[in-house]
Amino acid sequence: MSDEEPRSALIEVRSATKVFAMGEVEVAALRGVDLRVGDGEFLVIVGPSGSGKSTLLNLLGGLDRPTQGSVVFQGHDLAKASDRELTLYRRREIGFVFQFFNLIPSLTALENVQVAVEVVADPLDPLEALTMVGLAERAGHFPSQLSGGEQQRVAIARALASNPRLLLCDEPTGALDSATGRQVLGLLWDLHARLKKTVVVITHNRAIAAIAPRVVELVDGRVTADRANASPAPPSEIVY
Ligand SMILES: Nc1ncnc2c1ncn2[C@@H]1O[C@H](COP(=O)(O)OP(=O)(O)O)[C@@H](O)[C@H]1O
Ligand SMILES: [Mg+2]
Repeated sequence: MSDEEPRSALIEVRSATKVFAMGEVEVAALRGVDLRVGDGEFLVIVGPSGSGKSTLLNLLGGLDRPTQGSVVFQGHDLAKASDRELTLYRRREIGFVFQFFNLIPSLTALENVQVAVEVVADPLDPLEALTMVGLAERAGHFPSQLSGGEQQRVAIARALASNPRLLLCDEPTGALDSATGRQVLGLLWDLHARLKKTVVVITHNRAIAAIAPRVVELVDGRVTADRANASPAPPSEIVY
């Protein structure tokens, strides 16, 4: 990253902790995390299962608030936002991509995208979003008629359709075979490069980190490494 211009922060996590109370027992999922994500960055957060990756992604996406600390998006602290403000934040600024696609089985690919943008002020045309992921010709197909990789591409189209600044992807290849996973990572990379989207991918799979110009490691609720990778591998070339 040394040869790039410094980016302004899109979102910044400061001294964030997250403690879940399970009856008598408390689980510290995040133990003081600092993370600054630059506007237009492509970042992979890698860590073993249980290290706090999803918890951190949920804070970035306004799905949850930290126990302590702040999550500042463009000057607004999400930790202090009301539920209503967080809902609007998620709708306007965030596209979520999850491991298991979360499509509605009774709706076609196009309808799955349409439903997601009904409450959005200035969405993309749903068919245009499907075109961006290379699935325009499958618009009338139901999820059960699509492969896992195609279903994930529909989910990515759905995430894109609200024209978010930030794409948050929680184990987006976790349910896919490796060849299909590489295609999905290639698509995410392409959307970052073409549309200047800020993309955060979390994964337990270290091999995936090779595609990112910046890799953050999470262990036991703490950031243990944050490093630049001057020559990220094309997603089509990684082996996992
Ligand atoms: N809603 C919750 N209630 C209680 N414990 C939770 C909850 N969410 C996560 N945890 C715990 O927090 C830790 C981190 O979980 P998570 O963020 O899902 O890790 P990862 O995504 O890296 O696998 C784990 O010990 C997990 O059991
Ligand atoms: Mg997780």
